[in-house]
Amino acid sequence: MEFSVKTGTPEKQRTACVVVGIFESRKLSAPAQVLDDASGGFISHLIQRGECEGKLGQTLLIHNVPHTLCDRVLLVGCGAEKEFDTKAFHKVNAAVAKFLDDKGATEAFSYLTKLPVKHIEDMAWKVRHAVRATEDALYHFDQLKSKKKDAKQPLKHIVFSVSNRRDVAEAEQAIHIGQAIASGMKLTKDLANLPGNICTPTYLAEQAKGLQKKHRSLKVNVLEQKDMEQLGMGSLLSVARGSRQPPKLITLEYKGGVKSDKPIVLVGKGVTFDSGGISLKPGAAMDEMKFDMCGAASVLGTLSACAELKLPINVVGVIPATENLPDGQATKPGDIVTSMAGITIEILNTDAEGRLILCDALEYAKKFNPAVVIDIATLTGACVIALGAHPAGLMGNHHPLIHDLLKAGTVSGDRCWELPLWDDYQEQLDSNFADIANIGGKEAGAITAGCFLSRFTKKYHWAHLDIAGVAWKSGKDNGATGRPVPLLMQFILDKLQTESTK
Ligand code: BES
Ligand code: MN
Ligand code: ZN
Repeated sequence: MEFSVKTGTPEKQRTACVVVGIFESRKLSAPAQVLDDASGGFISHLIQRGECEGKLGQTLLIHNVPHTLCDRVLLVGCGAEKEFDTKAFHKVNAAVAKFLDDKGATEAFSYLTKLPVKHIEDMAWKVRHAVRATEDALYHFDQLKSKKKDAKQPLKHIVFSVSNRRDVAEAEQAIHIGQAIASGMKLTKDLANLPGNICTPTYLAEQAKGLQKKHRSLKVNVLEQKDMEQLGMGSLLSVARGSRQPPKLITLEYKGGVKSDKPIVLVGKGVTFDSGGISLKPGAAMDEMKFDMCGAASVLGTLSACAELKLPINVVGVIPATENLPDGQATKPGDIVTSMAGITIEILNTDAEGRLILCDALEYAKKFNPAVVIDIATLTGACVIALGAHPAGLMGNHHPLIHDLLKAGTVSGDRCWELPLWDDYQEQLDSNFADIANIGGKEAGAITAGCFLSRFTKKYHWAHLDIAGVAWKSGKDNGATGRPVPLLMQFILDKLQTESTK
């Protein structure tokens, strides 16, 4: 998909389709008003007849608008003007992309970037998010269908309106950033949507190596089982025991900054299928556990976007990848293993495997001398119960880091919400036989999972994102969402901003 920006008024655009917004009830946005004036009230006439109310996401395509140079005008409903926020902005851009694509329109000139969005002043944000929403709406996964989606005349080019020539350079940069984030999200979604029999730990390692080929700034290293044995990763390896697929510990180092800059380290849970192991999950919706590598996929997507944008910053990705399956060799409830940090763990439930692979990856992360470490994991069903599908669960040991992530969530629209990682919860992990147990009982399951990780992250600033509720959607339109790539990218971009103004 190609995007560009241009100045100029809507009635003068020679294009297949001009896109303008209509608010509820029947109120024209500024560019729609301009078209209306130029056409002698053509649009307001239609609206008065009740053809378009302005309901959020509603569309109306009109032909032969007098005194305009475009072939068609697409009116899109924006809902109540006062409530037009970042979410609504995403929705209308997505609705337009889908409409145009369905109709086989190949190009359009969109004035949606001129809409007033609640709490958003800057035009670059609008352009960036319009690009993201468009790409997101047009995403489909048909790699494994024998008949591909009919792509006769797909949407190829959208021009976004900007007010001044002075804005053009900044808006073009915003397109570039929006596209990089969108393609990072696409990579994340593609990997996550692949089934467990294709997307194995080995496949993830190959994908990482593929990124290294594409970007010289990325260095990839893959540790094999014997390397992990040597490092004493008894916890990670205990999860892999029941699987015939070899586990991998994948690291990606993106060096865009100066050598002495400490990196942001992102650790992503890469369980390519989670059956629960001997503590087998119930059968219903077990297929969804192919998404248990969404943390890993978001790390790959984020690193790929950083490399594409050539950001002047150092970021490291660490991905522990394995399957969790039952087998004669598999770890059993009650087994005790020793983690790389030396902490012994009583595995009371083999389905709490995410923390078991993350704790060794978090210990390993120390070697990169991190500025901060953020782990991203589809870690607990309890987090979905607590927060639903809107924000990711957030915990950590460093207030400024938590604050920055919350803020990046708000700006990107890919939000997270803090859960209290209080000491009071720690005793739920007490074990009579080892240093700690891998489960903390019924109560506060998302937090006790965070408590478990906190035992391994005392030496650096750390945050944990539980993305179990946000990484994929269930139901009829099920599939990966690409989250939290937008959140992580916003966090990284914000870091660069504060560095440069320091
Ligand atoms: N991958 C799951 C978490 C999960 C469950 C994510 C459902 C999304 C939807 C994780 O490995 C797991 O099984 N967690 C257990 C932990 C429990 C045994 C303490 C859970 O949440 O049930
Ligand atoms: Mn599990
Ligand atoms: Zn899991």
